[in-house]
Amino acid sequence: MAPVTHLQIEPTTRCNFTCGFCCGRAMSQSDLDFSTFEQTLVAFPHLTQLELQGEGEPLMHPRFFDMLRLARSRGIAVSFITNGSLLSPDAVRQILDLGVEKISVSMESADPESFRDIRGGKLEKVLSGIERLLSERATRGLSRPVLGLSVTVLKRTRGHLAGILALYRRLGLDGGITLQPLQRMAGYTQTYTDGMLDQLLSDAEADEVWVQLRANREIRRIQAERASNAGFHDDLMSGWSPSQRRCPWLEKGIYVDRDGFATACCMIKDRTQALGQLGVDSNEAILARRAALRTALKAGAIPAPCSGCELARFAVMSKLELFRFALSGAKTRLRSRSLPVHP
Ligand SMILES: C[S@@+](CC[C@H](N)C(=O)[O-])C[C@H]1O[C@@H](n2cnc3c(N)ncnc32)[C@H](O)[C@@H]1O
Repeated sequence: MAPVTHLQIEPTTRCNFTCGFCCGRAMSQSDLDFSTFEQTLVAFPHLTQLELQGEGEPLMHPRFFDMLRLARSRGIAVSFITNGSLLSPDAVRQILDLGVEKISVSMESADPESFRDIRGGKLEKVLSGIERLLSERATRGLSRPVLGLSVTVLKRTRGHLAGILALYRRLGLDGGITLQPLQRMAGYTQTYTDGMLDQLLSDAEADEVWVQLRANREIRRIQAERASNAGFHDDLMSGWSPSQRRCPWLEKGIYVDRDGFATACCMIKDRTQALGQLGVDSNEAILARRAALRTALKAGAIPAPCSGCELARFAVMSKLELFRFALSGAKTRLRSRSLPVHP
């Protein structure tokens, strides 16, 4: 089996925002030990891509930049996902000094009131951090990190995409857009309030999100313009399409949480479904459990830890269901001609 080349690791569960859909708010609030970070890099010696990402704000880890420095010294490309509120002048300087491949800023709405309501923080602060980083990057004549947006789609924000695309253009972002429906996996939904449960998308609405990503003219233009294969997510997902019945995570990636528990990906929150814990279980045992998940998925069964996952859902769709999905993509592509397009 191909070695693990893509690692996501959780620096912390602490956060300065209060997103109602974030299961991190219901978790114990703690940081990854630097020694666990070092141990994880040793455990997976073939890493090419690292993403500092978990259920907290990565920039709040007191040794965030030491992690970045260590990974870079080993030639590993580093990305991270952030709420964008802590891009201070000093953080921007260190990010540019150390060399980051991609930063994804999370955003469900470009409307300041909705943003504040959903995330519990100020959009204005996020925007000034993004502008600071882009301006300093330009002053230094650098092309990295590319800056993109990570968009979670709630029922109430399905109509907010056009505003987000307009903001993307206005800011001069270049890292592309990822869209994901509000998570429906049990590890997340069990932490939702009734109000948040009402925000879940139906299967058809979730399909519409995936279809938008592939068919919306403006999104396609943005994705085509972004620096190709920049960052963890692009690299991990490159070449994947829904009809392939496979999960790139089980082929190339692994997730390690702040306590060293390894799971097939960051969406698996139940530790009883973990592949093992670094330093407690052997690396061989962890990788063997991961291989078993891959074998099960290939055989057409969704493994228990992957229940509710969107990629696994595609992996076991019948040919007819995949055909219907492709058809809805073609229809949306036609409809998207009338969607707003920004220069
Ligand atoms: C867990 S957050 C943590 C990183 C950082 N604090 C931030 O806000 O980006 C990482 C990404 O996962 C997304 N996310 C978190 N909870 C989610 C959920 N329940 N459903 C879908 N996406 C979710 C966030 O919107 C964000 O883009």
